[in-house]
Amino acid sequence: MNVRELGKTGKRVSEIGFGGWGIGQTWWGQTEDADSIQAIEAAWAARVTFFDTAFVYGDGHSEELLGRALKGKEAFIATKIPPKNHEWPARPNTPAGAAFPADWIVSCTERSLKKLGKDTIDLTQFHVWTDAWLADDEWKEAVAKLKSQGKINFFGVSINDHDPNSALALVASGLVDTVQVIFNIFDQSPMERLFPLCRTHRVGVIARVPFDEGGLTGALTKDTRFEGDDFRQHYFKGDNLTQTVERVEKLKKLLGAEAQTLPELALKFILANETVSVVIPGMRRARHVQKNTAVSGSPRLSPALLDELKKHAWKKNFYESWD
Ligand SMILES: NC(=O)c1ccc[n+]([C@@H]2O[C@H](COP(=O)([O-])OP(=O)(O)OC[C@H]3O[C@@H](n4cnc5c(N)ncnc54)[C@H](OP(=O)(O)O)[C@@H]3O)[C@@H](O)[C@H]2O)c1
Repeated sequence: MNVRELGKTGKRVSEIGFGGWGIGQTWWGQTEDADSIQAIEAAWAARVTFFDTAFVYGDGHSEELLGRALKGKEAFIATKIPPKNHEWPARPNTPAGAAFPADWIVSCTERSLKKLGKDTIDLTQFHVWTDAWLADDEWKEAVAKLKSQGKINFFGVSINDHDPNSALALVASGLVDTVQVIFNIFDQSPMERLFPLCRTHRVGVIARVPFDEGGLTGALTKDTRFEGDDFRQHYFKGDNLTQTVERVEKLKKLLGAEAQTLPELALKFILANETVSVVIPGMRRARHVQKNTAVSGSPRLSPALLDELKKHAWKKNFYESWD
């Protein structure tokens, strides 16, 4: 497993991390905790050291599972504070104090520390962000205090879906250690402005949703149906699924010596970008962990294939169809 620098934090983390949304038991249909624990253990065995979670992934369930499975290990766990007003995505005309008042930041931190079973959170992230909040001092003071008390080591934000430019001023401000952003074969937009700025300011980049919620794994067909509370019945509703599958069929034509499977192609595309510190595929099954972690250390994609992949960028926002 290759390691990369997490911005200017001084930490080096595995370039393939673990996305902890699916293991939270909500929004992704039924999952067995025993499978999730096995997946976390498989990740640790494969030298994954970076784990991403959030309180809202099952009201702390994902945090609890990660805390339990990684107890006593030198793993780096990043979690997230939800906006108090439950507003996703963040809107510029909403005051910072409605989403992240100081007492909320503090109480959510205490709650996550308990769920994780730790004294310090390695990285805490606001789960939404708008640069309109940069002028507000209340959240800055709360974050600085938590750092000085040793309750959090680093601070970051998770940027609104498909809107990498909504955090450019924050990155330039020096107030943030990391940003988490959607970056995959379909959404290549962070390469335009966000990534160059992150390089300049040495802000760590956490690449999320590498498989476009499963579409880019090639495992979905036009007939795939999502059961129960799986949010993907909204994400892939209408002709979203058909459009995805048709585009993925075109990508399959690029498989060969450089990448034999779609998950491999999807991860290698992301790892080819040196600004990325860590990519965090969501994984609830040990067999997915084993396949995905094996991609680290294998030869990089050629410039010719990377050029070809640029043509597969796709401007869309399926999260908007989640009503
Ligand atoms: N706003 C935010 O901050 C935000 C939003 C979304 C996601 N995230 C973070 O980003 C992480 C990744 O995104 P995501 O989990 O939403 O979606 P994703 O990583 O794009 O896709 C996850 C899906 O891919 C499947 N998968 C993984 N490896 C596979 C393989 N080798 N072969 C076939 N299928 C495979 C998973 O299956 P199994 O689950 O069955 O293993 C799951 O269904 C999340 O877990 C979370 O930590 C953050």
